[in-house]
This record gives sequence, C-alpha cells and structure tokens, in this order.
Amino acid sequence: MDIKQFRLSNIGRFKTLEVPLAPTAEAGSRVTVFVGNNGAGKTSILRALATSLSWLVARIRSDDGRGSPIPEDVIFKGAASAAIDIAVLDERGQSANPDADESEQLYQWTISKARAGRKAEHATRLGDATRLADDYRTALTLDDQSGLPLVAFYPVERVVLDIPLKIREKHTFLQLDGYDNALNQGVDFRRFFEWFREREDTENESGIPQELMDRLLKTLGQNSDVWKTLQEMTASSRDRQLTAVRTAIANFMPGFSNLRVRRKPRLHMSIDKDGDTFNVLQLSQGEKSLMALVGDIARRLAMMNPGLENPLHGEGVVLIDEVDMHLHPTWQRSIIERLTATFPNCQFVLTTHSPLVISDCKEVLVYSLENGGLTEVPSQYGQDANTVLLDVMDTHIRNARVAEKLNDLMDLIQNRELKKARSILAELENELPATNLELSKAKLLLRKQELRGEKN
Ligand SMILES: Nc1ncnc2c1ncn2[C@@H]1O[C@H](COP(=O)(O)OP(=O)(O)O)[C@@H](O)[C@H]1O
Ligand SMILES: [Mg+2]
Repeated sequence: MDIKQFRLSNIGRFKTLEVPLAPTAEAGSRVTVFVGNNGAGKTSILRALATSLSWLVARIRSDDGRGSPIPEDVIFKGAASAAIDIAVLDERGQSANPDADESEQLYQWTISKARAGRKAEHATRLGDATRLADDYRTALTLDDQSGLPLVAFYPVERVVLDIPLKIREKHTFLQLDGYDNALNQGVDFRRFFEWFREREDTENESGIPQELMDRLLKTLGQNSDVWKTLQEMTASSRDRQLTAVRTAIANFMPGFSNLRVRRKPRLHMSIDKDGDTFNVLQLSQGEKSLMALVGDIARRLAMMNPGLENPLHGEGVVLIDEVDMHLHPTWQRSIIERLTATFPNCQFVLTTHSPLVISDCKEVLVYSLENGGLTEVPSQYGQDANTVLLDVMDTHIRNARVAEKLNDLMDLIQNRELKKARSILAELENELPATNLELSKAKLLLRKQELRGEKN
C-alpha cells in the first residue's frame, strides 16, 4: 500500500496544496521528505495524513469504525470548512484481475469538516476507504496468516520513553493490535515491553532461557562443541517476530545486540553494546529514541504479518516528524538508507531540519515548504551539508557576524588597506579556531599583498 498523492484544502496554513508522494516517475524510492522553517507546515501535513488514514485503520478494525475528525482549530483562518483528499494505491485491487490498470488499484477518499454553524464545501466520501478495508478483512477471514498494512505516525513527542517497572500479568496480542495507538502517540514503549516479555516467555518455554545461555557460555566457552550444538538448537526455536525486532535494531545500531527482558535485580530491558550489558534506560537519549522508533515499527510489522518469513518485509505507511531529532550527525546521514533497507516495503513520509538527512540519498523526493506553497527540490545526493543549508534550507552556514567580518577582511586585503586588515585578522584569530580554513586563506592573501607592497 502506498499513498499516491493527497490534497489539503484549508488545512492549517495551506489554502490548497496538492502533493504527489514518492515513488514518482523521477524519484524511484518510497521516501518523501518535507523541509521548511519552523511554522512552514511540516507537522500539519503529517497530521493531516494521519487523520485521513485513521479512517482506513478504523474500518479495517471494524466495518462501521470511525477515524479521527479534522479538529476545528486546524481549519484555515477565515475559511468555513476544510478537507483532506487522499489517493492510495493498493495491489489488492489487482488480485481479482491481473490485467487491471492502475485505476483499479486506486482508492480515493475525502474527509471534510465545517466550522460550527457553517456548511462544508466538500463532501465526506469514505466509500473507497471502506472498500479497501473490506478487502483486507475478507482476506483475513479467508486466511488468518494474511498480512495487514502498517499505518503509523511518529510525532515529535515520541521521545518520552515510559519504561514500566510493573506490567500487567498477561496480555494477549492479536494481529489487529498492531494498530493500537499507532496514529496518536507513535512509540508505545509500554506495549513494546509487554509484548516483548510475552513473546520471550513463549520463546523460552520452547528453548533455553537467555540467562541460562549466558551462564552456559561462561562455563563451556565459545569453542566447545556442546555450546555450538546448544546455540543451533536455540536458534531454531527463536521466535520469528522477536527475531525481526532484534534484527531491525541491529541493522540500525551497529554494535548493539541481544535486546532482552531481565528479571533481576528488577524487571528491566537490557541490551549489549560493544561487549557490555546496559539497562535500556542507561542509553543516551539519541540511542533510546532510535531504538524505540525502530523497535516500534518492527514490532508492529511483526504483529501484522504473522505469515511472512521475514515480517520486516511487511507493507505500510510510516510518517515520522523531525526524523533527525536527537540523532548524531553520522546517524542522520544514514537514517533514510537504513529505514529503506530494513523496511523495504514501507513508504516513508518524513520531515527534517537537517541537511545531512537529505544529502546522502538518491531517488528521494524532497519538497521545500514556504509561504503556504511547496517546491520540489532537485536531488541533493552527494552535496555537502553547507550547500544543502544554503540552497535548500536558506540558512547562513556560519554565524552572521563572523561571516561579515571575514568579508570585510577580504575586502580590506583586496584594497590594500593592510593596517586595518591586520587588526581585524588579529580579532578573528582570537575568536576562531586555529584550523579555520577561511582564516588561513586570508593570512596567505595578506602575506602576498605585503610582499607585493615591499617590492614596489
Ligand atoms: N487554522 C490555521 N489557519 C492558518 N494558519 C494556521 C492554522 N493553524 C496553524 N497555522 C499556522 O501553521 C503553522 C504551524 O505549522 P506546523 O505544521 O506546526 O509547522 P512546522 O511543523 O513546519 O514547524 C503555524 O505557524 C501557524 O501559524
Ligand atoms: Mg513541526
């Protein structure tokens, strides 16, 4: 399932906005990124998509399900009503007829909302959402191993990691529970923890508990034959869904492995990092939020695709606001590549403030938002971060005052006002690191001019 395009009418700061999403003819990936200043409307776009998709999810859960309405304060100031149109492509439409053209795979629905006492200019039409949801439910009725599409929105508030110490005794997880809270709060770490413990218990019942394995490794040693046999036996009894989550986290966070629930000294979740074992709470904010995000996507995909050999290959739409949040620059650079490699059949709609996120991927569709409109940004693949900041994000690449001083310095050198130049150079040398490239250049030029002056 992919969103092909959507249209906002009178939503937030947008009067009308029509946006095709990747994959398009030019951008072959399934990743669309929105950039723009604060207040440009990035979050409004993701929220609108989440609102629209909530109707599909509600109807997959039950045939008369109701999604979220458009909140009244989202309606454009001065307008009487607002609407969100969405067009979704889903191959389910083709399954009945292999020769069908794209229009048979296209599902379009509209939700609209009028202010109190006003009439809506657009009609709410949910026929296609109901039809698509119906197709999924029919498939599930015929075969309970059939997959469901993941739909999840990760808002900026996702970082709060609530790791519960006490969790409910037993909780059964159904396939449809993969949608729980997926569109309002994103990461649900409490559920993640409960689910993980539940599956791990089942896994341990059929295999050897991890804690025992850890102890056996110490006594037997890595190279003993008994240890090797034991490891093969446990590998075959590993839970497929847990394996998916562990694999996703390992893909994203090199050096991290073996996420597990520990019961001593207290119930907690632990993970190994470069040979040491940590309580998940001890990780840095960046590590925690990335782990929670990736773990949550993987868990939901695993729950919804019990029939897949590799549940990470499940389909879905994932919306992430400010995907660079808390991430180290190296991780920002690789996040899109890792997302698409780990979850190859998901469509991603992302927003970011970081030039690094979009400078390292080919085939990504990037839109820049400005004054309630949007422009498609040419591929930034291979561009350095400064160029992206200047060209796309319209930002000074260095402190404005320093930039001005450097400019003045260059002018003075050009105009051979060497005395003044020396004094500004001295000031800048005090302020900037000795390795500053511009400063070294200025020094060289100044020296040249001095030599020239001596000659004359
Ligand atoms: N009902 C509305 N009518 C007009 N403008 C609105 C409305 N609601 C919000 N906005 C504008 O939209 C902006 C918020 O957009 P948002 O999506 O949060 O931006 P971003 O996530 O890019 O920082 C605010 O600056 C606000 O001025
Ligand atoms: Mg925002």
